[in-house]
Amino acid sequence: MNRRYRKTIIAGNWKMNKTPKEARSLVDAIRPLVSKAKWCTTVLCVPFVDISPALKATRATKIAIGAQNMHWEASGAYTGEVSAQMLVEMGVKYVIVGHSERRQYFGETDEIVNKKVLAAMEAGLKPIICVGETLEERELGITEERIRLQVKRALHGVNVENIRRLVVAYEPIWAIGTGKTATVEQASEVCTLIRDTIRELFGARAARSVTIQYGGSMNAENAAGLLSQLNIDGGLIGGASLKPESFKAIVDAANQ
Ligand code: 13P
Repeated sequence: MNRRYRKTIIAGNWKMNKTPKEARSLVDAIRPLVSKAKWCTTVLCVPFVDISPALKATRATKIAIGAQNMHWEASGAYTGEVSAQMLVEMGVKYVIVGHSERRQYFGETDEIVNKKVLAAMEAGLKPIICVGETLEERELGITEERIRLQVKRALHGVNVENIRRLVVAYEPIWAIGTGKTATVEQASEVCTLIRDTIRELFGARAARSVTIQYGGSMNAENAAGLLSQLNIDGGLIGGASLKPESFKAIVDAANQ
């Protein structure tokens, strides 16, 4: 991480876990554990129905609440969807866009991801854009092409002024929920590639302001090593974000 130019952000992605009541208890448990994190922003990306209890439980704290998805239109006949404006009005600050689970199970394409990124930024939300290669792509040696393509397509048409509100999460698909983590070298190499790609598109100043996270089985044991890298500015945490002590340990590692 490099705090001179950009924020260090540890974000929990709860995925489809916790009912509203359970969410309240989990936030109550996490809140005191992360309250001393001065150098790192803590974000909890919760299911839509948990947003309200999570916001209540984090009132007057520095913990920000994020959503895990949104629709790109402001309103209209899109049954079951939630717009960026709806999230903003509630007090949501971040939104995960293009998580590999959404790409895999819900058919999200790079084009859809791009529309969501533009809509999120327009509404004032900070998108956490997820990119990552499959195991097959890594083995074929096309990780670099895959990542560059995803970043370029996700950021197509984004105004350079908005780039500093951007978060990109590198989540190798083979490391998600598998207990397998990318090595520090692998994670650092791809996070550096992401920044280089943003630099090509938007220039050096914009590129150095972007928070780039690693995600994929990040935990209390491996967080410090990953976060020691110049181009890894935080983490997007799945499983470990549901365990208060583990999440605390990751926030502590980022706060060093
Ligand atoms: P795990 O930390 O459970 O591997 O999940 C990572 C992830 O998908 C975060 O978005």
